[in-house]
Amino acid sequence: MRKLALLMLVMLLTISTTVITAQDEMVFNCGTDEEVTINYFGDPVGSHPEAEQATIDRFMELCPNITVELNQSSASVTDLLAFYLTAFEAESSDLDVIRVDVIWPGQLADHLLDLSDIAPQEHIDAQLPALIENDTIDGRLVALPLRIGFGMLYYRTDLLEKYGYDAPPATWEELEEMATAIQDGERAEGNDEFWGYVWQGNSYEGLTTNALEWHVSETGDNFLTSEGDILVNTDAAVAAYERAASWVGTISPPGVVSYQEEDARAVWHSGNAAFMRNWPYAYVSSGESEDIPGFDVAPLPAGASGAGASALGGWHIGVSRYSENPEAAAAFAVYMTSVENQKHYSIDTSSPPAALELYDDPDIQESMPFASPDIVEITTARPSNFARDQYNAVSTLYFEAVHSILTGEEDADVALELLELDLMALFEE
Ligand code: GLC
Repeated sequence: MRKLALLMLVMLLTISTTVITAQDEMVFNCGTDEEVTINYFGDPVGSHPEAEQATIDRFMELCPNITVELNQSSASVTDLLAFYLTAFEAESSDLDVIRVDVIWPGQLADHLLDLSDIAPQEHIDAQLPALIENDTIDGRLVALPLRIGFGMLYYRTDLLEKYGYDAPPATWEELEEMATAIQDGERAEGNDEFWGYVWQGNSYEGLTTNALEWHVSETGDNFLTSEGDILVNTDAAVAAYERAASWVGTISPPGVVSYQEEDARAVWHSGNAAFMRNWPYAYVSSGESEDIPGFDVAPLPAGASGAGASALGGWHIGVSRYSENPEAAAAFAVYMTSVENQKHYSIDTSSPPAALELYDDPDIQESMPFASPDIVEITTARPSNFARDQYNAVSTLYFEAVHSILTGEEDADVALELLELDLMALFEE
């Protein structure tokens, strides 16, 4: 009897060891055994090529038969979209795996493969459901989420202390006051290059995100709601854009109207700005800059609505329908967005991950204390789910109108009235 019990115990242990071993050695599905090369269009902001290459190296260890070529894509997402659309219209097979901005699933759906049958279900279930929903267009999962972006305020803790402020600004008025005082003080000490506040004012998608934040913080509403209401032509909206225009050449450099993310980051990194609006990706490099004695991040300031607003950003991975190696391309997309890779990638880029379980990971928490799985719910999405393949047209009208206000080319009330008419015409077509 005791012998039998012992035998059963041994058998049980053997079975459980086998199960554990089988899980540990679970073979990654590379999709193909053939030797192939695929083209991946990488991080458009271009600031973390090493994180991209590290991902590729890890993948190629799992799937040595697949060579992934990293193609640097344009830093401007507006230019990047134009590039993709031109290639897709020509049904070019040059693009296998691409970066998909959170706003593009509806815009690019026709050109991307449905990954719902290719990616393992547990892989899809590991991601934040709101992001999977964002990437599902007419029942097709056209991208897999990789990382989340959201607008945040970077501020210099050393300078706040030096000028007697004990907390970051809670309102735009406070930001203006602090930025002015710090800028005046630093210039008086001889730093002529110092500016109070840097952000993204170029005529491109990044301005849509900055302007949306001003708009929502001032009016409490999106400029185009999920019901299709166009809310750009109101007194509160005029006030929001006029305030931003008043920063140009006062607390912000005149050149801010041509700044993208990397331009703002360069000024901030050289120690020449008290405040910066940017995405989480700049957090890790800010910590490495010798010219920044101290910094922290805070929510963007509130406007007349009483609350601040932060635009939702982030990057997802899609596979081109015109790829000649769709299995290998899909395998790379799945690996790149796997929990394992997201952990490395998120830490390397200080960008909150798309996989829910990683928010409990101490390494993630330590490297980006601002990350929370609620980001998607508390941020404001651009109207891409409503506008779908019209989104780029909407955004272009919007950022061009806002840009004309920032440069003084057009009065805010005129620019916004015209914008309202243009948006109405777009949806009447
Ligand atoms: C960041 C965001 C992206 C946004 C872009 C605008 O890359 O993640 O969503 O469209 O900035 O420049």
